[in-house]
Amino acid sequence: MTDRPRILVSRAIFPEVLAQLAQHFDVESNQDDAAWSREEFVRRLQGKQGVLTTGSERVDAELLAACPALQICANMAVGYNNFDVPAMSAAGVLATNAPGVLTETTADMGFALLMAAARRVTEGEHFLRAGAWKRWSYDMLLGQDVHGSTLGIVGMGRIGQGIARRGAHGFGMKVIYHNRSRLPEADEQAVGARYVGLEELLRSADHVVLVLPYTPEAHHLINAERIALMKPGATLINIARGGLIDENALAAALQAGRIAAAGLDVFEGEPQVNPALLACRNVVLTPHIGSATGPTRMAMAQLAADNLIGFLTQGKPVTPLNAD
Ligand code: DGY
Repeated sequence: MTDRPRILVSRAIFPEVLAQLAQHFDVESNQDDAAWSREEFVRRLQGKQGVLTTGSERVDAELLAACPALQICANMAVGYNNFDVPAMSAAGVLATNAPGVLTETTADMGFALLMAAARRVTEGEHFLRAGAWKRWSYDMLLGQDVHGSTLGIVGMGRIGQGIARRGAHGFGMKVIYHNRSRLPEADEQAVGARYVGLEELLRSADHVVLVLPYTPEAHHLINAERIALMKPGATLINIARGGLIDENALAAALQAGRIAAAGLDVFEGEPQVNPALLACRNVVLTPHIGSATGPTRMAMAQLAADNLIGFLTQGKPVTPLNAD
């Protein structure tokens, strides 16, 4: 037994980051990369002062009560809906996330899904691979224009602003956004976006992109009623969290052709995907890979590690969510 802090790493991460952590801590890490059950996670957390989580492990009052040695949970994700931050503050446990380092990569993914959904890229590929492409036809796989259209962004944090810049400056789109609070005018001008209410956004946008944090108030924000407000040819893109959309309502709208298409990187029950969505041809589905490039994932792991090292060795976390 040493007196170095003990930490847990809940999933496999880059070996070089693990090696850095091992210079400061006694590290127990998940070697198999299969997600631990909640019970197993709590058992392994016993006696640990810190944990590196990946965004899917729930940290709530019950877990905190069962793990009294815990001082910090460092999420290797910018979203932290897996953390009950008020419960963590009440228990004196620090929460950190990984903002900033994945902004541009995730905004790229939002655009990739938008382009793929609007221009029916995966449908086209399935069509071709199935041997269905026999001849040129004037109305084969007609999609929706992206350039010059109206882009509606719900949630205007860093990633939302990255998408706005791409839309306004790269594709000549008219960009409108809705957010809890309006950006300062200079920021709106810099990203080329205009603030509107949610209802107006849904009624006016040709492409709607969800990039807001998932909170209890935002559960099923996009439901049947709100989908009914959208333009018939609209597309809906979600790179935030699956719970923002009522997936059954979306699948019904896609099946009925009520909206043209959707692009989804996140799902309410992931890694399970709602069978009603799987049955729709006009939806592009990806397995929560918004931040998945080598350099970005490395930067996320490094920031989570820096939070653990900074806090447990010097009391100085880098990106705290609930420090005084
Ligand atoms: C995040 O950082 O919240 C992403 O969704 C994780 O990939």
